[in-house]
Amino acid sequence: MILLGIETSCDETAAAIVSVDEKTKQCTVLSSVIASSLLLHSQTGGIIPEIAAREQIKFIIPVINQALKEAHISDNNPEIDAIAVTYGPGLIGSLLVGVETAKTLSLLWNKPLIPVNHLYGHIYANWIQNTKNKRETTIKLPALALVVSGGHTDLVMIKNHSTLEVIGGTRDDAAGEAFDKIGRLLGLSYPAGPTISKLAKKGNPNRFILPRPMIGSLDFDFSFSGLKTSVLNLMKTNNWSFDTGSEENNQQLLFDICASVEWAIVDVLVKKTMKAVKEKNVTTLLLGGGVAANDKLQETFKEQSSKYTINFSSPEKKFCTDNAAMIATAAYFHHTKTTWQNITADPELYY
Ligand code: KG4
Ligand code: ZN
Repeated sequence: MILLGIETSCDETAAAIVSVDEKTKQCTVLSSVIASSLLLHSQTGGIIPEIAAREQIKFIIPVINQALKEAHISDNNPEIDAIAVTYGPGLIGSLLVGVETAKTLSLLWNKPLIPVNHLYGHIYANWIQNTKNKRETTIKLPALALVVSGGHTDLVMIKNHSTLEVIGGTRDDAAGEAFDKIGRLLGLSYPAGPTISKLAKKGNPNRFILPRPMIGSLDFDFSFSGLKTSVLNLMKTNNWSFDTGSEENNQQLLFDICASVEWAIVDVLVKKTMKAVKEKNVTTLLLGGGVAANDKLQETFKEQSSKYTINFSSPEKKFCTDNAAMIATAAYFHHTKTTWQNITADPELYY
């Protein structure tokens, strides 16, 4: 089965061709093309929805064209079985570009459409065949997934491919949002997660003991907004400013704050997730979403998974952040095929 995936939920315009071997259920990426308006947003310190949508319009056709070309598929009556498109959650203007384009192509090429939930996409990125090392084992269900992105921090039980149950989530900021907002306080450009992670490698994670909200609560929920306030208070109390950023004596301080922030976020994510692993008695743990690309998070989960002898899977880094290969892959496991008349963008969509 050959699927064209389209993803436009936020600031990335992505298209991919995924081939699925229906016997082994192996999902191989034939092409994955991503254009981003991130540079524009880093200049404004965050995403401006109107700008993101306008950029989506600019990129969508060239990106789809490139994805077909790289997979050696003609754009004239292409040999694909369906078009998978993200229909939510996300920014309405951005989502509409992908959904309306997919509807038009569906009508033009007479191909079925598969509406895909972006959050399912992040989870199903784990089913993408690793291009470097072939997956040794297939993922066994039931599994627990931690989805950590710019807008979500969710713990999801996957009993089987049609039964997903949210058992916990953030009560305020998402983990990625915490990285981004704290980065802004530190004078780092948007999105700050990858930069904080890079700077943290040179810092001492124990120099500042930052709060771990809800780490001991009986539920599986998270809270990250207090962390941002603690960093702000720390900066105010000590009269620290990182606007200039590059002064020598300020650098180690910045590295140490980044390392302490990263460790505070990772510590809570791992402890709460491992609590769920034990209580729900699962043997497979999946990670997904942009924050899943964080090395410290991956290392800590790997250590814990080998300690508790559970299987741990995280997508390749390039498939952790937004991409269309994960949308095509999720579509294979949730193939609710429909026609162009029956799909509407839903910015508030949940699981
Ligand atoms: O999944 P994603 O690409 O988009 C959403 O669906 O939100 O996630 C983007 C988020 C941003 O908040 C970004 O700062 C964070 O993922 N992120 C990271 C890393 N790479 C991306 N956070 C921490 N460490 C990273 N290496
Ligand atoms: Zn995402």
